[in-house]
Amino acid sequence: MRTQVGIIGAGPAGLFLSHLLFREGIDCVVLEARSRAHIEGRVRAGVLEQGTVDLMRELGLDARLRRECMIDNALDIRFRDGLIHLDLPALSAGKCATIYGQQEVVKDLVAARLADGAPIAFEAEVAALDGIETAAPAIRYRVDGRDETLACDMIAGCDGFHGVSRGAFPPGALTTYDRIFPFGWLGILSESPPIREMTYINHAHGFALCSRRSPRVSRHYLQVAADEDPDRWSDARFWDELAVRLGAGAGELVTGRIFQKGVTPVRSFVAAPMRHGRLFLAGDAAHIVPPTGAKGLNLAIADVRVLARALVEFFRTGASARLDRYSDTCLKRVWKTVRYSTYMTRLLHRFDADSPFDRQLQLAELAYVAGSRTGQAMIAENYVGLPFEDE
Ligand code: APR
Ligand code: PHB
Repeated sequence: MRTQVGIIGAGPAGLFLSHLLFREGIDCVVLEARSRAHIEGRVRAGVLEQGTVDLMRELGLDARLRRECMIDNALDIRFRDGLIHLDLPALSAGKCATIYGQQEVVKDLVAARLADGAPIAFEAEVAALDGIETAAPAIRYRVDGRDETLACDMIAGCDGFHGVSRGAFPPGALTTYDRIFPFGWLGILSESPPIREMTYINHAHGFALCSRRSPRVSRHYLQVAADEDPDRWSDARFWDELAVRLGAGAGELVTGRIFQKGVTPVRSFVAAPMRHGRLFLAGDAAHIVPPTGAKGLNLAIADVRVLARALVEFFRTGASARLDRYSDTCLKRVWKTVRYSTYMTRLLHRFDADSPFDRQLQLAELAYVAGSRTGQAMIAENYVGLPFEDE
C-alpha cells in the first residue's frame, strides 16, 4: 500500500490530522492498533478550547457537539480562605470553554472519516518505521495476522505517549524533559447532576475537581497517591471525601451511581525536536501535560493544525519552510502550556514535602489571584486557550 501521509494512531491528533489533510485533497492512511470500540470508549478529559470548537465547526464536525455540549462561562477555585470566581468571558474578551467528552470527539471524527469513504485501519499495530531520513519512508505494521508495509512520503507519529514513533528517532536525536508529580488523580463518572460551576479545590486533604459531561453526568476527581488502587474507593468513600474537600453546603453535591473509575498520573513530559527527517511527532507522542490545565487534547490539536498547514504547503509547492519550522512553532505553545499546567498543579495540590513556608506561599498565591484581575485574567486566558501563532 502507498499513501502521501502515513498517520500512526487514531486518537484526537491522528484523526484531526486526517480530516485536515482530506479536505485539502491530500491522501493519508490512519493505522490504529486498537479496535474502534476501544478508542471510542476510552474516557479522558472533556474541556475544549474555543479554537478546538472552531476547528470542529470549520471541518463540519460540530453538529452533535452543538446539541450536546455544555458551555463553561465560569471557573471557580475554592480554598481555605475563600472562593475565586472567574467570569471567563469578562476576563478573556468574550471567550468561554466547552465541555464535550474526548471520546465523543473521537466518535464524531471516526464516523465522519468513514462516511468520507476514507477508512481507518483498526487493529493495525505499527511495529517499525523504515527510512525516516530518506525521501521514501515506510511503516511496517501487522493486521489480521499479516505483516504489511505502508510506503509514504511523510509519517505523522500520532501514537500517544506509549507509541513507537518517538522510539524511531536515532539515539541522541531527542532531548526529553520530564517531571513526575508525587500524586495521581482518581477520576469518576457518575449518574448525577453536576454542581453549578466547574470547580477546582485546594484543600488540606488534597486537590479535588468537580467537572461534568452533561446535565445528568458528573465527572469528579480527587488527588490520591500515584500508585492508588481505585478499587480501594467504594462509592460511599469517594462521595464522603469529595464532600469534605468541596466543603459542600446542604444539597450542593448530588451523589449517584459511579459507573467509571480510574487513576491518572500527573506528569509533564516534552520530547524535542518533534521532527526527525520525514517523521513528525504530534500530540501525546511528543508531550504530556498535567491534567490540571485541561490542555492535553487541545495541545494535540494545536500541533496537527501546524502540521497540516505545513504538509499542504509541501505537497502543493514543494516548499519545506513550514515543515522546517514545525517543531519550533509547536514547542513554543507546548512550553507555555507546560508552564500553565504546572502553575495550576502547584497552586492547587497538596505537596507532602512542602515546608510550612511553601504552604504559606501557596495560600498567598491564592489570595493574590482572589484579589487581582490580572492574576485571574492570566488563568482565564490560558483556560479558554491562548491565541494561535504562526498562522
Ligand atoms: N500502532 C498503531 N497505533 C498505535 C500504536 C502503534 N504501535 N501505539 C499507539 N497507538 C494508538 C493508540 O491506540 C491510540 O489510539 O495511538 C493512539 C494515540 O492516541 P492518544 O493517546 O489519544 O493521543 P493523541 O491523539 O496525541 O491525543 C492526546 O489524548 O491522551 C490523551 O489526554 C491526552 O487529551 C490528550 C489526547
Ligand atoms: C474533565 O472534565 O475531565 C476535566 C476538567 C478539567 C481539568 C481536567 C479534566 O483540568
